[in-house]
Amino acid sequence: MQFDIPQDSPVRRSDFVFGVATAAFQVEGHRYADGRTDSIWDTFCEQPGRVLNGDNGEPACDHYERWEEDLDMMQAMGVDAYRFSIAWPRIVPAPGVINEAGLAFYEQLVDGMIARGIRPVATLYHWDLPQYLDDQGGWLSRSTAEAFADYAEVVVRRLGDRVTHWATFNEPFCSAFLGYEVGNHAPGHQRADWAFAAAHNLLLAHGLALPRMRAAAPNSAHGIVLNFTPSYAATDKPADVQAARARDTIEVHWFIAPLLEGRYPDEYFDRHPEHAPTIEPGDMELIRQPLDFIGVNFYTRHVVRAGGDGPETVPQPDREHTHIGWEVYPRALTELLIQLRRDYPALPPLYITENGMAGDDHLENGAVHDPQRVSYYERHIAAVGDAMADGVDVRGYFAWSLMDNFEWAFGYSQRFGLIYVDYQTQERTLKSSAHAYSDWLRTRHE
Ligand code: NOJ
Repeated sequence: MQFDIPQDSPVRRSDFVFGVATAAFQVEGHRYADGRTDSIWDTFCEQPGRVLNGDNGEPACDHYERWEEDLDMMQAMGVDAYRFSIAWPRIVPAPGVINEAGLAFYEQLVDGMIARGIRPVATLYHWDLPQYLDDQGGWLSRSTAEAFADYAEVVVRRLGDRVTHWATFNEPFCSAFLGYEVGNHAPGHQRADWAFAAAHNLLLAHGLALPRMRAAAPNSAHGIVLNFTPSYAATDKPADVQAARARDTIEVHWFIAPLLEGRYPDEYFDRHPEHAPTIEPGDMELIRQPLDFIGVNFYTRHVVRAGGDGPETVPQPDREHTHIGWEVYPRALTELLIQLRRDYPALPPLYITENGMAGDDHLENGAVHDPQRVSYYERHIAAVGDAMADGVDVRGYFAWSLMDNFEWAFGYSQRFGLIYVDYQTQERTLKSSAHAYSDWLRTRHE
C-alpha cells in the first residue's frame, strides 16, 4: 500500500523533515537500571485501578537494552529524524545528584542516531516527574520549575548541538489538566484550581529553562510541544458556538497564548477567579520566551454543544473512529494550523511532532495488516500539505509512534505503532503502515 499524496503537495519539499516519535517512559523499561529512581508514573501504576489491567512501565519495549536494534529499524525505514524524550529520574535520581550513567545512555543514543544519519529531536519532559519532586509538591510548587531548569541545563550542556531540536515540555496540557483535574494521569488529583496552578508552574519551568538551554546549545532550535484538540460546534446555535469556543480556550489556546503573547486566553480568570493561580510580577514576561519552533500534536477533534453544566462532547457514531474511540477528522488539522497562523502573528515555524492512531492490530502469519492506519497517515500528511499550501510554515512531521508502547492509563491495550511489538518476546514486526511510510519516505521527492 502506498500513500497517495498530491504531486504538488508542499510536504514533498526536499527540506521537509519526516520522522517517528516515542517517549522514555513508554518504551524504555528498566525502572532501576544504572541508578534511575521512580517517577510519578511508576508510583501511579502501582495504585490499583489507575492503569488498565494493572500495566506498568515494565518491560515496555525494552528499548533501554534494544536501542541499537530500534535505531537500525529507523534507519532501514529511511526516517530523517527521531523524536525521543529524556527521563529526568535517570539524570537527577535524587535532589542535587547528577547521574553520569543516565547522561551516558542518552549520549550513546544520540551518537547512534547521528552515526545512522538520523537527526535527534529531544523532549526534556514527557510526563515522568521524579517522585521525590512530587513529594515536595510536584507541579503545584514553583520550586519544581527551578528544578526543571537545572535539569534541562545539565542535559543540554552534555548533548548540546548534537540534538538539532530541543523541546522543554511535551503536552503540558496533559500534565496539568489530566494530572490535576481529570485525575486519569499521574499524579491523579481532581482539583480544577490545582490544574491551573500546575499549568502556570509548567509554563514558568519552560520560561526559566529556555534561556539556559539556548546558552548551552546556541546552534540548536529551542521550543515546546503542545497538543491541540479543536472543538466544532454541534449546531449554529450561539450557545453551541460559545460552548465550542470555551473548550478551545483550554484545549487550543491555554498554553500557546501565554507563550506567544504573555497572557492567558479570553480573560478566563476574570470569569473564573476561583481558578486563578498566583501570578507573580514578571511571570508572564518570563513565560513569553522567543521560540524557534512549536511542536503540534494532533489526533482528533471534538464536536461540542452547550449543556447544563457547561460544554458537552457530542458523540459522532456515524463517523470513522480509531480503536481508542477518537474520531478521524483530518480536515481539523488543516483548519487548526490555519487558525493558529491567523490568531498568532508571533507564531514560529511549526512541526507536527505527533500524529497517529491506535488500532486493534494482530500479528497473523508474521504480518500485521493495518489499512486504516495507512489511510490515516496518508490523509493527515496530505492535510498538513494543504495548510502549507495556504501559507502555514510547517517544517516537519513525526508519526506517533515508531512502535507500540505503554499508552498511559490504557496500558498496553492501545497500539499506536508503525511497528508491532510482541511484549512476550519483544519481537518487532513492521506493520503494513511502516512499509507504506517507508515507501513514502523513499519516493516522496520523485
Ligand atoms: C500524546 C502523548 O504525547 C503520547 O505520549 C501518547 O502516547 C499519544 N499522544 C497517544 O495518546
